[in-house]
Amino acid sequence: MKILFVGDVVGSPGREMVSEYLPMLKKKYRPECTIVNGENAAAGRGITQKIYRQFLNDGADAVTLGNHAWDNKEIFEFIDEAKQLVRPANFPEGTPGKGLIFVKQAGLEVAVINIQGRTFMPPLDCPFTAVEMLVEEARKRTPFIFVDVHAEATSEKQAIGWLLDGKVSAVVGTHTHVQTADHRVLPKGTAYLSDVGMTGPYDSILGMEKEAVLKKFLTSLPVRFEVPKSGRTQLSACLIELDRKTGLAKTIDPILINDDHPFIAE
Ligand SMILES: [Fe+2]
Ligand SMILES: [Fe+2]
Repeated sequence: MKILFVGDVVGSPGREMVSEYLPMLKKKYRPECTIVNGENAAAGRGITQKIYRQFLNDGADAVTLGNHAWDNKEIFEFIDEAKQLVRPANFPEGTPGKGLIFVKQAGLEVAVINIQGRTFMPPLDCPFTAVEMLVEEARKRTPFIFVDVHAEATSEKQAIGWLLDGKVSAVVGTHTHVQTADHRVLPKGTAYLSDVGMTGPYDSILGMEKEAVLKKFLTSLPVRFEVPKSGRTQLSACLIELDRKTGLAKTIDPILINDDHPFIAE
């Protein structure tokens, strides 16, 4: 039983990478469940219904979000009907959408949870309490539980990893847009990776035009960041293999595709 997870897709360069490589990755690894983080998919900010549907057409079974979930206002028009879309669970009660969804694939049910950190990020409800409650709920239905921890601080992500060790299949971080090299299976069987990384412009700063970000650092004046319209691109992902009976992880491997790490079909 395998789960493929693609990290923060940024704008059209990221979406094009998903359309091009997701079918090839699925052919190569044959995951039963494919999840894509789409919080930056619409020009770097939020997601539209058309883009959500495109991810499903490209082969995603679930789409997770993050702090940019609400940046494109169209989200409010379709989030409640989008059954395969999951937003951070620890927004206040009454927030549209869901923080836990179940996707059925190849006769198996996978719970997908999205949670947002609070360290160096806007204050939200406690992610630790929220995720524990959702994991309890999910475990009544399935041992296959994937948690996307959308957070800035590696300490907060690691803490959630240890909190959930042995209770979920995987805890994988998003949001920093930089893939970390700390993939491991924790002692009680939960796969862990602090950040899966970003899918989008390669010669950029976290997916945005580097000139604008540099200007911001050099002048401290307000600058609007845009996704580069052309240039080299990358895809960041990870592959997790689970025990079919227990739902616990056997392996987790990061995947990076760019000019420095070309995709090998076999
Ligand atoms: Fe992001
Ligand atoms: Fe984010």
